[in-house]
Amino acid sequence: MYAQMVKSTGTGLKSADEMSAEERAFQARIDAGEKIEPKDWMPEGYRKTLIRQIGQHAHSEIVGQLPEGNWITRAPTLERKAILLAKVQDEAGHGLYLYCAAETLGVSRDEMTEMLLDGRMKYSSIFNYPTLSYADVGTIGWLVDGAAICNQVPLCRTSYGPYGRAMIRVCKEESFHQRQGFELLMTMMRGTDEQRAMVQESVDRFWWPALMMFGPPDDDSPNTAQSMAWGIKRDTNDDLRQKFVDMTVPQAEVLGVTLPDPGLVWNEERGHHDFTQPDWEEFRAVIGGEGPCNAQRLAHRQRAHEQHEQEATA
Ligand SMILES: [Fe+2]
Ligand SMILES: [Fe+2]
Repeated sequence: MYAQMVKSTGTGLKSADEMSAEERAFQARIDAGEKIEPKDWMPEGYRKTLIRQIGQHAHSEIVGQLPEGNWITRAPTLERKAILLAKVQDEAGHGLYLYCAAETLGVSRDEMTEMLLDGRMKYSSIFNYPTLSYADVGTIGWLVDGAAICNQVPLCRTSYGPYGRAMIRVCKEESFHQRQGFELLMTMMRGTDEQRAMVQESVDRFWWPALMMFGPPDDDSPNTAQSMAWGIKRDTNDDLRQKFVDMTVPQAEVLGVTLPDPGLVWNEERGHHDFTQPDWEEFRAVIGGEGPCNAQRLAHRQRAHEQHEQEATA
């Protein structure tokens, strides 16, 4: 998703006996499906986990403008430029809704930006990959926004009210993003051999990083249990990844592209597709700052931040 390695700051799952009276009452509200609002009592770990997750999500929306923004001045037609501009502006809006949601937890947008710039906060690994052709605009819409939808639709029901409400609006716009990406790829697939080859090459590059968007496998994701108990997270990483693969395979058939995984086959018994895991070493390297575009993305963000500071004090 747009927040892949969020460490929950809970100290392991507590049993009801180990909880304080306040914690017990809080957990009962979560279990009853009640929304938690900014002025309600909440455990410190819940608040911190949410700040990390929403902050990381907000940063991902903002940094996520860069790979596609790269193509605005080189869009092939006026219509494509208008669509791309609208999409990139939506991502800026998503960042703003999410920063506002995080601010209700007592952290400012400036503090979160500082944490991004000094490396204490991350953004999604996917945005550290370059966009090399216009087909990438379509592939990002189809696969990256598609993966984001899988992750984010369940977050509309997350336990923290301001986060869930922001996600409802974000999800509506994400489905437009996914469809515009699919439509662009479909148009290219109906074009020349060269255009079809561009689409296939782009899908070959983005397939594995898109699978990484759901974060590490469940047995390597020790914080999921606490986040799920608190209703912050609704599904595990592996369940969401499976859902994404199952959703994407028939769409790839309609497009006429090949997903670059020879191990991708329908498993009748499980009622799901089997597929090969992405390279988790590469994932760790990219999250750790070693991806192809990490330095470039952060330098851009730093420049924008300094410019804003100068304008604010001028
Ligand atoms: Fe977005
Ligand atoms: Fe999007």
